[in-house]
Amino acid sequence: RTVYVNGAYLPEAEASISVFDRGFLMADGVYEVVSVLGGKLLDYEGHMVRLQRSLSELAIQDPLADADYLAAFRELVARNEVTDGLVYLQVTRGNPGDRDFAYPPADTVPTVVMFTQSKPGLADAPAAKVGWSVVSIPDLRWGRRDIKTVQLLYPSMAKMEAKARGADDAWMVEEGRVTEGTSNNAYIVKDGRIVTRELSHDILHGITRAAVLRFAAEAQMAVEERAFTIAEAQDADEAFVTSASAFVMPVVRIDGTSIGSGTPGPVAARLREIYLEESL
Ligand code: PDD
Repeated sequence: RTVYVNGAYLPEAEASISVFDRGFLMADGVYEVVSVLGGKLLDYEGHMVRLQRSLSELAIQDPLADADYLAAFRELVARNEVTDGLVYLQVTRGNPGDRDFAYPPADTVPTVVMFTQSKPGLADAPAAKVGWSVVSIPDLRWGRRDIKTVQLLYPSMAKMEAKARGADDAWMVEEGRVTEGTSNNAYIVKDGRIVTRELSHDILHGITRAAVLRFAAEAQMAVEERAFTIAEAQDADEAFVTSASAFVMPVVRIDGTSIGSGTPGPVAARLREIYLEESL
């Protein structure tokens, strides 16, 4: 597989970054994940707008022009012959040459890494027909979850906890209300109304979320942006999550309790269908 590091396309075994890179030592960096379906990038623009926002919130200078990112995405998809899969992009504050809590001088060049992952048949994931089972877990992440940083240790721990409990993912809970999944935004559907937490520093502003809410509005579905509890979710007619890699994924069990019929619901199925049709 060919990967991208600071302007160079290299075989993955030959690519390297400094041990002093702030991304490695401090998780001082941000990332994006863009899906590829049939060789095309999904929601590319939205992901790049969020990348800019994440960088500016952390005062990391943007090392590349818009056109350079797009060219690199296309080059990697072509070189690695990705039909279905994703492109991962990471920008870290770079290598100051030593370890220090203070940021390095502003002219330190950020490190840009990109790679692809092939996932044949991504859009037809069997899980979408069965639905996910999730467990609840306290949200112990930091307070700026709207910035898509590479600090993913807690979400990884939450994913492992979910697996240990026989589930597919965890829904994180803060002050009695669901924030989001380990790497996705969370929704319930009750009496035809789609409910999902409002945007704030508490959650990532999902690009798939924005698209799905737009499609829901166009399809005259009622949407309420507010936080909900696990009890409310267990009593809902349907639940689902959204992300660049899972698209719209039905959730059928929460903490062992079946939601609605215990099978993927019609609203999630319809939104998944619309998202996959409209986002290419
Ligand atoms: N995760 N919430 C969190 C905490 C996430 O990490 C993600 C994305 C989302 C959904 O955002 P989007 O729709 O823009 O993908 C919500 C990516 C896919 C990942 O870490 O692999």
